[in-house]
Amino acid sequence: MSQARIIDGKAIAISVRDEIATRAAALLKTSGVRPGLAVVLVGEDAASQVYVRNKEATAEACGFHSVKHTLTADTSEFDLLALVNSLNEDPEIHGILVQLPLPAHIEESKVLRLIRPEKDVDGFHPINVGLLTCGEMNTALVPCTPAGSIVLLKRTLDNALSGKSAVVIGRSNIVGKPMASLLLQESCTVTIAHSRTQDLPSVVRAADIVIAAVGRHEMVRGNWIKPGATVIDVGINRISAPERGEGKTRLVGDVAFQEAVGHAGAITPVPGGVGPMTIAMLMANTLTAARRQLG
Ligand code: GUN
Repeated sequence: MSQARIIDGKAIAISVRDEIATRAAALLKTSGVRPGLAVVLVGEDAASQVYVRNKEATAEACGFHSVKHTLTADTSEFDLLALVNSLNEDPEIHGILVQLPLPAHIEESKVLRLIRPEKDVDGFHPINVGLLTCGEMNTALVPCTPAGSIVLLKRTLDNALSGKSAVVIGRSNIVGKPMASLLLQESCTVTIAHSRTQDLPSVVRAADIVIAAVGRHEMVRGNWIKPGATVIDVGINRISAPERGEGKTRLVGDVAFQEAVGHAGAITPVPGGVGPMTIAMLMANTLTAARRQLG
């Protein structure tokens, strides 16, 4: 059986980032505006700390104005809302990202809805969700992971998404739902599968494009994949890896990669697939937000 092409998300993300850095430099030269990104981290979640560090470093590499606010886990909801308000009013900040998850005593939706939609570089505000659903791509800010997945699909399939059958496994607000909206806009025939879906393997076997975003390690097996299908694995799961020594871990996706490479036409690895693209699209959204706020 032939082996799938491995989609190099890291290389594609670097080329996207280079282009953003060039465009940011041009914006600074022509209008004196440096795109500004504020990232807010509440608490000490280890994975969130790594993500936030990467976001901050990438923003700096793109030549952006980058600000990080680190708040303790016992920060009150009132204080976090006050910080978001001050960032909303800050003319040097064009994009605001509050890293999730937030501590249990803070109401996530209250915080996300306070971010001004034009600064909502995560694309989580209901206004941006609505604009995306309406196909208003010139005003919407689109969630980064689905946006990055679409870039990978377009490059892999040479833009030939129209008419393809796509299954999105997972219905989260962050990935599953916006992913389905974007695929629909690319004229795919879209199925959203989830934990209650009956006979999931058969649903996946019918798809030319598989987006795995369930958050369960290696749940999608190789023999579920239609021969030649394109597989985008959004999952990032840390599992124990005793073969590497005591207490060692490794990252795996939602797809059983070693099995799936024998069936798929192309597949993203974990790590090195969707992850780097998510950060690249955050930079793209920040640049877009800065441009739009110029008026
Ligand atoms: N936590 C995990 N993924 C994300 C993301 O895309 N945005 C934010 N704000 N938090 C996250």
